[in-house]
Amino acid sequence: MAERPYIVGNWKMNGTRAMLSEARAIDRAAQRYMKVEVALAPPYTLIHAVHREAEQIGIGAQDCHPGEEGAHTGDICATMLSDAGAKFVILGHSERRQDHGESNELINAKIESALEGGLRVILCCGETLDTRDAGEAESFVLGQLKASLPSIEDPAERLTIAYEPIWAIGTGRTATVDDVVAMHASIRRLLDETYGAETSAAVRILYGGSVKPENAREILSAPEVGGALVGGASLSAESFLGIVVAASEAEDA
Ligand code: 13P
Repeated sequence: MAERPYIVGNWKMNGTRAMLSEARAIDRAAQRYMKVEVALAPPYTLIHAVHREAEQIGIGAQDCHPGEEGAHTGDICATMLSDAGAKFVILGHSERRQDHGESNELINAKIESALEGGLRVILCCGETLDTRDAGEAESFVLGQLKASLPSIEDPAERLTIAYEPIWAIGTGRTATVDDVVAMHASIRRLLDETYGAETSAAVRILYGGSVKPENAREILSAPEVGGALVGGASLSAESFLGIVVAASEAEDA
């Protein structure tokens, strides 16, 4: 693996200031696992506070508007996120696609704007169970990516892909390691075609969907799995750190 494993906690619509102690505990413990890159994406309301607590981990956001500042009530743009301390943004999460009707074209515009604003991007993709059962998971996911990948010369350090099968999110059900390996290999081929193999090698492909301390080691040891995007299990320092430890052990193995 070209880069350190990347373990990112997506707090989704969870967390008040009472959660700052969990963020602090995650940050302090992450300092003992320097072979792993650890990051948290709290809700907007906590970004600045978590940033102030953090000495080691990266802080990011869960979405941003594609435009610059202006008349967009309720929205937040990339420069505001940077100002609050965010270094990256998760874009194209299936919950945004489903709850807010986000299209690949909109997601592409958000990515270009976030990169322009100096943020790193985690681009999410993933199929529904119906699509998988129809045997169309690979073509669907690659279609999402083809329509939303940014047109940049050098995606290294700036772009991460997260494969999150929708049926595995928050369900306790994970994809089989074989399914993950096959999908990640297809995504890697697309990245190679798009950016050239040498440049694309530094783009990590994360897996997301019911990752827990108990299953993390197996998933993180699989080829082309560059880390995990973690929802529920990132809400407590104890379970999130169990995944960080598993990533560190998988790296040593
Ligand atoms: P869970 O880990 O709760 O399944 O969520 C995964 C996810 O959607 C992370 O972005």
